[in-house]
Amino acid sequence: MTTSFAEDSPAVLDGVPCFSEPIKMVRPFLPAFSELAEDMEQIVASGWLTNGPHVRALEEAAAQALDVPHVVAVSSCTSGLMLLAQCLDLEGEVILPSFTFMASATSMAWKGCRPVFVDVDPHTTNLIPEQVEQAISPITSAILAVHNFGNPAPCDSLESIADRYNLHLIYDAAHGLGSTHHRRPVGKQGTAQCFSLSPTKLVTGGEGGLVATSSADLAKKLRAGRDYGNPGNYDCLFPGLNARMSEFHALLARRSLAQLPEAVSSRQKTAAQFQQAIAAIPGLRTQRISPNSTSSYKDFAVIVDEMEFGLTRDMLRQALTAEGIDTRTYYDPPVHKQTAFRNTAKYKDLPHTECLSRNIVCLPLWSHMPDDIVEGIIASLQRIKQNAPLIRTQLIEHEGLVGDSS
Ligand SMILES: Cc1ncc(COP(=O)(O)O)c(C=O)c1O
Repeated sequence: MTTSFAEDSPAVLDGVPCFSEPIKMVRPFLPAFSELAEDMEQIVASGWLTNGPHVRALEEAAAQALDVPHVVAVSSCTSGLMLLAQCLDLEGEVILPSFTFMASATSMAWKGCRPVFVDVDPHTTNLIPEQVEQAISPITSAILAVHNFGNPAPCDSLESIADRYNLHLIYDAAHGLGSTHHRRPVGKQGTAQCFSLSPTKLVTGGEGGLVATSSADLAKKLRAGRDYGNPGNYDCLFPGLNARMSEFHALLARRSLAQLPEAVSSRQKTAAQFQQAIAAIPGLRTQRISPNSTSSYKDFAVIVDEMEFGLTRDMLRQALTAEGIDTRTYYDPPVHKQTAFRNTAKYKDLPHTECLSRNIVCLPLWSHMPDDIVEGIIASLQRIKQNAPLIRTQLIEHEGLVGDSS
């Protein structure tokens, strides 16, 4: 990249792309194979392939890292949330954001709970406590909050609402490993929190999930629940799942967890570089981090104001793709507009959710993103902005190239 790069013609207008090799959204930060090899060999030699000493060691390490008394390892965050709904016997309605990944809602629907979607704050992209309170009905059994993109939900206000109305407060903490609230890791708030270890997360086991709770009874039920409902004597207590974690996944996840502090500080540094540069680009803004909180930056979200930026979100994406920069539109469509929920869930107008869905784009962010890549992404945004009127005209002329974001 030359120093005049930002002044050069953007790739979407036939300039030279910033990156010759596409920059992927995610690049898992994994331990070296040599760090795993001996234990993997030992797992194979022992023949103990699932729910064994490595799973237990992961649970202990995670409980310590999260400062929570009990952690139960499961096969995914989704299965953990399904088991939470089952073990807490949730029924009736569960209040949650629509601006989230579909699994927040599908996990509740599996237990027969009706999702009640409420709007999110346009800046933090998390639940608005007042709207949660207004949505409570005689058949509400729980509030399901999300630490969206790693930005902690308004835990204190939600906790006081849950206490006042005697509701369970559970967290889809899929993005939450590495986030803090009041200088402590998120994980202890509410009845339970469920973390994801899928490959796009800061800590990964390949696949997997961790349920954190202060309740010994709930942890015991979850352990039976992940094993079909079997407490160990083959007298099934309730309909459970096979949501066990294999020893291989647990080994990888534990090594990955040990790298979490390094991953978070590197992502926070990259996020700060993005934030500083984007603050100077009219028409773009970034997710606001909640008070008294830090984010894991599982994702880095940019919100486009079409009038000020000169391009729609989808035009910007197209221009970034031409530069060799992969992006995602989390979450478009929002869950209340998805086929499974459009006609079955309960919701009123969700203007912030719909506006965010239309205008948000997530940039690539890795746990170790080299400076030249960070600078290239920033310079690409700058030159796209500088050439916005021309790009807009060209994309509109080539009708059909522009994705419809409505
Ligand atoms: C907010 C949220 N909840 C739940 C999930 C599902 O996690 P898993 O793939 O571990 O089931 C994801 C996946 O990315 C997510 O983003």
